[in-house]
Amino acid sequence: MKQPVRIAVTGAAGNISYSLLFKIAAGEMLGTDQPVILQLVEIPQAMDKLRGVAMELEDCSFPLVHGITLHDNPFDGFKGIHYAMLVGARPRSKGMERADLLEANAAIFSEQGKALNDVANRDVKALVIGNPANTNCLILSRNAPDLDPSQFCAMTRLDHNRSLGILGNKLGVNPSDIDGVTVWGNHSPTMYPDLHNATALGESVIDQIDESWYKTEFTPRIQKRGAEIIEWRGLSSAASAAQAGLDHMRDWALGSEGKIVSMGIISDGSYGVAKGIYYSFPCICEFGSYQIVKDLEVNEYGQSMMKKTEQELLEEKAAVDHLLPADTAESREN
Ligand code: NAI
Repeated sequence: MKQPVRIAVTGAAGNISYSLLFKIAAGEMLGTDQPVILQLVEIPQAMDKLRGVAMELEDCSFPLVHGITLHDNPFDGFKGIHYAMLVGARPRSKGMERADLLEANAAIFSEQGKALNDVANRDVKALVIGNPANTNCLILSRNAPDLDPSQFCAMTRLDHNRSLGILGNKLGVNPSDIDGVTVWGNHSPTMYPDLHNATALGESVIDQIDESWYKTEFTPRIQKRGAEIIEWRGLSSAASAAQAGLDHMRDWALGSEGKIVSMGIISDGSYGVAKGIYYSFPCICEFGSYQIVKDLEVNEYGQSMMKKTEQELLEEKAAVDHLLPADTAESREN
């Protein structure tokens, strides 16, 4: 039997976690031979609700769950963790400006970054799901100078999975028969779902679809899918977001079996994207780490779409720049 690994989940009493925790506990993330200890983190006001969720987990009698602990702060909750699923974030309230939202979340993710830096396992992998995910991830990483920026990711896997699902439906193929889809950039309506290198059952996708469907129906649908779900369900995506978080972490830890997956990662300047922002790239995962797939062709349309979403991320970064500690990697290079 393997040794248990420690997984922290923040926002553990919220909607996404209500799916995510039970899937992790059932072994869907790290395999049915990997015991887990769940370290659940919430804000003090939500601790009663969290206790109720923990009781339900207990009532499932999952054989892989070797412990559940509840915490109202990340310095306790992140002790010794190997994986962090950072779901909790401050939602936009009525009348709140974008800058206020970025600042409110900056406070949360600064503290969580410091906690990861101080108390997590040195090999920790952290996935930011709470929005604005890419910029929250930047803040997190910059507050954890002893950890490598590649240990942090922002989740764009839901956008990737949405692309596979909707495209599969259009072409009449199973989503698992599609490869080479990339969602570039920010997890926001500026993201660029790129099908130019995609194949379905080995055949080029772009040759099988109408350009106007791609540009005027598919692309905005993926970009605004979150709003479409809210319109119909009355609530934001939860089960699909949990599934995406699980897919992201599983592939990162165990490998993506040669398939391209979209991950919000620290830009190393590939494809001309500004260094130092968390931008979604095409990645292949193997042996517990990811590599950017570097040789994909991007046409002029793609380049302009990639620039637009990069620009938005640079603006978000500028809005929180005054709250960021110095970038040690940058200062080392200079
Ligand atoms: P929710 O509001 O149901 O749950 C959020 C939970 O986080 C609440 O229980 C709250 O008490 C907790 N929380 C807030 N601040 C916290 C902190 N500092 N530490 C620990 N817990 C804290 O929201 P839901 O539906 O679960 O969504 C969570 C986040 O995920 C939202 O920011 C949402 O926008 C984002 N999201 C991201 C997606 C992506 O693709 N990246 C997709 C869908 C949602």
